Amino acid sequence: MINPASIAEVMSRTDIVDVVGQFVRLKKRGTNYIANCPFHNEKSPSFNVSPAKGIYKCFGCGKAGNAVSFIQEHEKLSYPEAMRWLADYYKITLQETERSPEQQLQQQAGEALRILNEYAANYFHETLLNTEEGQIIGMSYFRQRGFRKDIIERFRLGYNPEHNEAFYQASVAKGHSKELLEKAGLIKNRNGIYYDVYRGRVIFPIQSMTGRILGFGARILKSNEKAPKYINSPENELYVKSKVLYGMFQSRTAIGKLDECFLVEGYTDVISLHQGGVENVVSSSGTSLTEDQLRLIGQLTKNLTILYDGDAAGIKAALRGLDMALGQSFNVQLVLLPDGEDPDSYIQKQGASGFHEYVKGHKQDVISFRLQIGLKDAGNDPIKKSKLVNEIAESISRINKAEDFALQNHYIREASDKLKVDETGMVTLVNKYIRDRIENDQKHQQRREEAMPDPAEMEMPVEEPQVAKPGTGEENEWGLLKVLVEFGHLAYDETRTISAVIEEQVDPALFENQLVGKLYNEYYDHRTHFGNVPETHYFVNYPDKDIRERLISVLSTERNKTESDMSANWKTKYGIESNSDKLHYINDLDSTLAYFEYKKIMMMQEDLLVRLQLEQDPLKLQRIQMKYLELRKMDKEILKHHPAVFRLMKHK
Ligand code: CTP
Ligand code: MN
Repeated sequence: MINPASIAEVMSRTDIVDVVGQFVRLKKRGTNYIANCPFHNEKSPSFNVSPAKGIYKCFGCGKAGNAVSFIQEHEKLSYPEAMRWLADYYKITLQETERSPEQQLQQQAGEALRILNEYAANYFHETLLNTEEGQIIGMSYFRQRGFRKDIIERFRLGYNPEHNEAFYQASVAKGHSKELLEKAGLIKNRNGIYYDVYRGRVIFPIQSMTGRILGFGARILKSNEKAPKYINSPENELYVKSKVLYGMFQSRTAIGKLDECFLVEGYTDVISLHQGGVENVVSSSGTSLTEDQLRLIGQLTKNLTILYDGDAAGIKAALRGLDMALGQSFNVQLVLLPDGEDPDSYIQKQGASGFHEYVKGHKQDVISFRLQIGLKDAGNDPIKKSKLVNEIAESISRINKAEDFALQNHYIREASDKLKVDETGMVTLVNKYIRDRIENDQKHQQRREEAMPDPAEMEMPVEEPQVAKPGTGEENEWGLLKVLVEFGHLAYDETRTISAVIEEQVDPALFENQLVGKLYNEYYDHRTHFGNVPETHYFVNYPDKDIRERLISVLSTERNKTESDMSANWKTKYGIESNSDKLHYINDLDSTLAYFEYKKIMMMQEDLLVRLQLEQDPLKLQRIQMKYLELRKMDKEILKHHPAVFRLMKHK
């Protein structure tokens, strides 16, 4: 058990902005900070951090909590582990009381791999620096590659002796189990005899964003062997290749500060660039880039520059990452290095300024890059060329955000010019790809709706009769009015009141109930005339008897049961007591707003579908299609986070 006084000390030192800022690029807005949420995919920020309250909340996915829960969620740690993380970060020594033997065992099982990796990294590093063999073999190798000592230390490089079982013996003597050593990929068993997997290799520890050792890459030193050049850790609980970028720990500050990330192929490229002063660089370590890796980068910057070898394999690898990056709205650029060079060799020869100059002169956007490679490859072959035209059109169609419309047209012009095809033809082709996606998307949606059980058949928990269920649009409208009357004057966030948020987000033209519409208008008229919103008694004492009675009955309904359960959860989960009432009405409001948002989006979609049928001009058609796709994404997001809205729409 961690001593409560220690917990109190950690909590008093913890600054939520500082902690979250280690992982996410925060922007100041008013007294709060906002960012793209690290817990779900999104393109505009709905993740809020309040330094005053010491909490974060995502209005997209609903994740919320304090600094400890952020570390727990983000790093997948238990509460005590998150506490230790924070204590470590703030250099506070935790006082821990003795644990029971069972507790110890359990914790050991969970943390053993982590402890073993840390031990192994230290062993390899010490062996490199402080043993004769390490110096003569490992260090000479690094020296010959031009790696400085400070860089070797920063990346915790190491060496595993040539002797078959040097590391194995040492670790077992330290109490590490054979099973775990094997699981971590550090030793293997041949006919009952254990030997070191990395013997005679130099070691590159692979670290998490926060510096934890997840696994290793081990490079062979002799060049003429049949053995693989690198042996990497097998995947396990800690090391998930698709979610790791080599160098992220050492580079993340520079990536955020410079608002750009270089992506290279190898361990040594990252290290050499750092040594040359280029510190905003990570590597996907020889595998093609994954969605998860892009997301990791996207939390720090949306400007990605891919630096690959100019050889065929490098180009192929680069191409794979591109569409994905485009789809995640990255501003992605490519730089191909001269034949036979990689970033490591290039910066060692030309220095940082030579490197930067080359990058500046050879940056290409995706479409230009595809065009250049494709045209060279197609030559005069008409079939290859027609295939290329299609590929380029498909690529351009992926830029499907309405704001990027100008960019899309720029590419269409450039592509039709270089491919020598008619611009209108190119537009039509791009449209076709967008349309294909719309159709695909609609089929998907249909299938999903069919798969959804009918709400009437869904087993609903028995609820007390006075509880209002999310039912008709009308009920939501009255619900909105209730929030307005009861809480409109209260703060929603640091800068806005509830009434201001409602005014911003709700289109009163969507009201089905005329009376709600009338009272809604009266509410804001009152503010216009008197400078403040009407208080509750204004409505409770409403002159018209029927309206007054309706209002009083609405105001006295209990809060929707499921929603208030959610708030209660929130409360127990994050221990935020004093705010609980506020959380209630914010939760109420959020789901009501989601309803209106959804309704608005659905109406806009219907409108666009009508226009799609009628529009003749291909450019305008394209614009409508893009807008439609964007709206589809938005409504899916809403349904994902507010399933109640879906039930409600089906009822209608
Ligand atoms: N790689 C690997 N296994 C191999 C070869 C390569 O895992 N057998 C991965 C490594 O992450 C390596 C990256 O692919 O860093 C790029 O490979 P390469 O360019 O061959 O290695 P470099 O890092 O450039 O190493 P060096 O400069 O020492 O040749
Ligand atoms: Mn290399």
